[in-house]
Amino acid sequence: MAKTAELRFDGQTIELPIIEGSEGERAIDIGALRSKTGLITLDPGYVNTGSCTSAITFIDGEEGILRYRGYPIEELAEKSTFLECAYLLMYGELPKREVLHAFVDSIRRHTMLHEDFRGFFKALPKDAHPMAACAAAVGALATFYPDSLDPVDERQLEISTHRLIAKLPTLATYAYKHSIGQPFMYPDNRLSYVGNFLHMMFGTPCEDFEIDPVVRKAIDLLLILHADHEQNCSASTVRLVGSSNVNLFASVSSGITALWGPRHGGANQDVIEMLTAIRDEGLSGKEFVERAKSREADAARLTGFGHRVYKNHDPRATVIKKACFEVLEKMGIHSKLLEIAVELEEIALKDEYFVERKLYPNVDFYSGVIYSAIGTPPNMFTAMFAIGRLPGWIAQWMEMHDDKHKIGRPRQVYVGENQRDYVELEDR
Ligand code: SDX
Repeated sequence: MAKTAELRFDGQTIELPIIEGSEGERAIDIGALRSKTGLITLDPGYVNTGSCTSAITFIDGEEGILRYRGYPIEELAEKSTFLECAYLLMYGELPKREVLHAFVDSIRRHTMLHEDFRGFFKALPKDAHPMAACAAAVGALATFYPDSLDPVDERQLEISTHRLIAKLPTLATYAYKHSIGQPFMYPDNRLSYVGNFLHMMFGTPCEDFEIDPVVRKAIDLLLILHADHEQNCSASTVRLVGSSNVNLFASVSSGITALWGPRHGGANQDVIEMLTAIRDEGLSGKEFVERAKSREADAARLTGFGHRVYKNHDPRATVIKKACFEVLEKMGIHSKLLEIAVELEEIALKDEYFVERKLYPNVDFYSGVIYSAIGTPPNMFTAMFAIGRLPGWIAQWMEMHDDKHKIGRPRQVYVGENQRDYVELEDR
């Protein structure tokens, strides 16, 4: 196998090293390109450009493979728990029993928020989008916890990691409770991670809240499936922001903001709104798919479909679709939205437009059906995605810091005006 790539330019030939990953992926290392040729590369959207080497998550988009630290997502979905996967992603190995218990216990003890966060949320409008509230609140954690901001102090990093994983569900449910005018629910540390989330989300001080084990298991599964996805938009954002050596809270706040976008995690809210519109307006799946093929802006797209990397099925969508049927049956719920989603998938996967572009359902296509069935409002879906993705962001951020990183600072090709002289106001 060639160890170098030859580049011939302007009468000059240079050799650039080829690096190969543990799964056979190969890349041209262009570290010396500009110094040797004066050239840079240009690749809007980074379609062909790797930003780093990483040992965290492996995706084979052609084969529909997803593994966290080498473990297939299907096995983790069946056998693991979200906090165990969080530990695996961040520290690289499945924890031994006592290590897992200590990790879970530490998370459990950091779930409560500083009491002043009540005032923080009460200052927001009732209709504040939970993603805006969570991005702001996570950034504000840096003001409440100035003792754990140093990105290169291991103990401070561990504390801020545990605080983030423990507190994000509390912050998200505070945003929800504020939006419906209900009292904030304190976490109950006798409960599991997801049980506590459900208690804070749907419980009230007026009565006991019974956690449905089917719902708890389904949410834990969804969090596992969302936990990391290599260099997606929000993880790359967390890496780039983190490369300035700002604290972890600020870096994660930027990841929440990036995830909110409708092309990224925000799609899960758009999918359920699309399915609801089809149901309530009595539209046909066929005409919806036809509209999605138009070349209008993103708004016309069949949201929840397509992926930059998966050109085969998204293995997460396959697991979530199966879970939809199982959970709804156990809950005794008939979901018209699920019926419509299945119809859309069947139509699209036989349609030449989608087939030739290799557009398949992605992680966002079915997830909202379960969130909806348990009573989560659509504007909270992406906050659920963020709770799941948090360990992945932290793992990517930690790996970037371990790599003796340089600050991320892309170059550009300038295409603007050449030098020109200032024109006085009266002469314009
Ligand atoms: C997530 O990166 C990750 O890993 C993300 C994620 C994660 O876990 O972090 O997996 C989570 O963000 C999933 C994606 C959620 N977004 C959506 O479902 C929104 C709808 N999908 C698209 O906007 C789009 O597919 C993207 C953004 C997901 C991917 O965009 P790309 O890779 O830049 O592809 P593209 O926009 O260049 O599309 C290629 C072609 C185009 O057609 P042509 O211009 O070549 O004729 O496919 C078309 C697009 O118009 N196309 C769609 C479509 N998605 C792409 N046409 C109709 N419906 C769609 N959904």
